[in-house]
Amino acid sequence: MAKTPVIKAVNLSKTFKLSKDNEVIALHSVNFEIYSGELICFFGPSGCGKSTLLSMLAGLQPPTSGEVIVRGKNLATLKKKELAEYRRSKIGMVFQQFNLIISMNVLENIALPMAFGGMNRKRRMQRAEHLLEVVDLGDKKKSVPANLSGGQQQRVAIARSLINNPWIIMADEPTGNLDSKSADDVMKLLISLSRKSKRTVILITHNPDYLQYVDRIFRMKDGRIDKIEVNAKTAKVELVDSVSKLDKIQDSKDESDEIEEKSEPAFTSAISEIEEDKEELTKVKE
Ligand SMILES: Nc1ncnc2c1ncn2[C@@H]1O[C@H](COP(=O)(O)OP(=O)(O)O)[C@@H](O)[C@H]1O
Ligand SMILES: [Mg+2]
Repeated sequence: MAKTPVIKAVNLSKTFKLSKDNEVIALHSVNFEIYSGELICFFGPSGCGKSTLLSMLAGLQPPTSGEVIVRGKNLATLKKKELAEYRRSKIGMVFQQFNLIISMNVLENIALPMAFGGMNRKRRMQRAEHLLEVVDLGDKKKSVPANLSGGQQQRVAIARSLINNPWIIMADEPTGNLDSKSADDVMKLLISLSRKSKRTVILITHNPDYLQYVDRIFRMKDGRIDKIEVNAKTAKVELVDSVSKLDKIQDSKDESDEIEEKSEPAFTSAISEIEEDKEELTKVKE
């Protein structure tokens, strides 16, 4: 059986027009496919187009030309509402700046992206609590971000990215603001999510130490993917045990697998259930 990619880029290009006759070509016609459960790393020097690429995969900005195809569906064909729903529930984003809401406690932060999905508060909080255990911070429920270390805040952000059981986790330099010990913890967590919980994880880093753990390295240079390297023997790493709890808390069956079977109708109908106000709230959150 032919494998369907989770996400695919077809001649994906992005040009920023700075003025009438000054433009930056951030991406030159990039092509690739990423499959379910893969841990992928976009690797390359600052300015080579990594963040631009990731933000287009996440539907945060449109390409200048080319296509992003997610489970067979071109993002450019989605209505505004559908795209907001894609960003909200199919993609879990983790950034270098943790982007937590400082006035909310850890549980509230984790539950936030679920507030727009119609699930009651009690259930949301329960789920957030489970996720907090998955990221090994079960004792920090009531803490506010200011009382956590950078590494702990990033783990909260990872828990938040998982709340809607996304298809793909995208992390843009998630260890960029962390000391090396915290960075290792965060990386182990992301690797565990990929290995133990079979999430698809797309990572951006410029730390070569982590390349040994990823399944494929997409080496980028000047807006192009220079080379795709397959890691024949993904190196051993001590995994984060708590991650195996994740599958138990995801609603009995794995939604992402189910949707893979009958991709289009499920995707479209899930999306069309979303009302206008939820989109507004999503914007506020972003
Ligand atoms: N919003 C923007 N407006 C203008 N230029 C941009 C914008 N975003 C990125 N760029 C340019 O696109 C190129 C790629 O940037 P980026 O994707 O941020 O690289 P990386 O994440 O690899 O460091 C750089 O030259 C950057 O200056
Ligand atoms: Mg970047």
